Amino acid sequence: MFPMIQLGKQDGSNLLEMEDALYGMYLEAKRVSEDIAATVEPPRFYRDKAREVELSRRMLDSHPIAQAALRTVERYDTKIGHGLSHVVKVAVDAGALILIESAGMTPVEMRDRLVLLAHVAGILHDVKRSEPDHASRGAEEARKIINAYDLSEKEREAVVKAIGNHEAFRTPETLRSPQSQLISDALYDADKFRWGPDNFTETVWLMVSPHRIPLKVLLEHFLPSLEGIGKVRETFRTVTGREYGPNFIDCGLEIGMRLYAELSGRNWEE
Ligand SMILES: [Fe+2]
Ligand SMILES: [Fe+2]
Repeated sequence: MFPMIQLGKQDGSNLLEMEDALYGMYLEAKRVSEDIAATVEPPRFYRDKAREVELSRRMLDSHPIAQAALRTVERYDTKIGHGLSHVVKVAVDAGALILIESAGMTPVEMRDRLVLLAHVAGILHDVKRSEPDHASRGAEEARKIINAYDLSEKEREAVVKAIGNHEAFRTPETLRSPQSQLISDALYDADKFRWGPDNFTETVWLMVSPHRIPLKVLLEHFLPSLEGIGKVRETFRTVTGREYGPNFIDCGLEIGMRLYAELSGRNWEE
């Protein structure tokens, strides 16, 4: 998202802890970004697909395997990259994409199983976020974690492949099973939805705070980074992702441009 800025370890699972770790100037800049975001219409996906998003959230909250995966990533704390809030949103939206894309699928138990696998993939996808080639490393780590879960070998393989395929601007592996392909594509799209408003209200602050990167330096990288974000518009993989993904990105870019104008107009010298 801000690819020119080095990523590092951070927690972010707890807002208070995260805010403790931030400089006062980050807190102020984050508050500015939230104020701007509050004036921008949220991505249309959440209006049009509210029912599926809500159902996905309820399924995630109630399934013991999804809850076990959540407890596992909590133990990884400093290594989960963009934070627990990020992986939960990815999981919920990936599940919603499955519900939308598999509408009418019978039996419904099969659809619900795909939602569960998308949830597990979403929760675990960034478990190696702080390492190089984090999608492949995360897939390997997820394989070890889910071996303990009550899943079939085919289901485990679908989760592992989806995680290995989630990096932007890399050619994904084409999967043989349409169900595995759907989980993989849904995970990718739900993760890239986060390159919208969340990038400016949450992710960028989690990325810069561990390194104490001065805001002046962040601002120098800001406009080239927006260009990189814009390029993801063309990469969404599901039918629904292609329909709604570009709107996420446009909402984010609007916030980003206004944030840049606001922050670069201030003196951030300490
Ligand atoms: Fe990732
Ligand atoms: Fe992610």
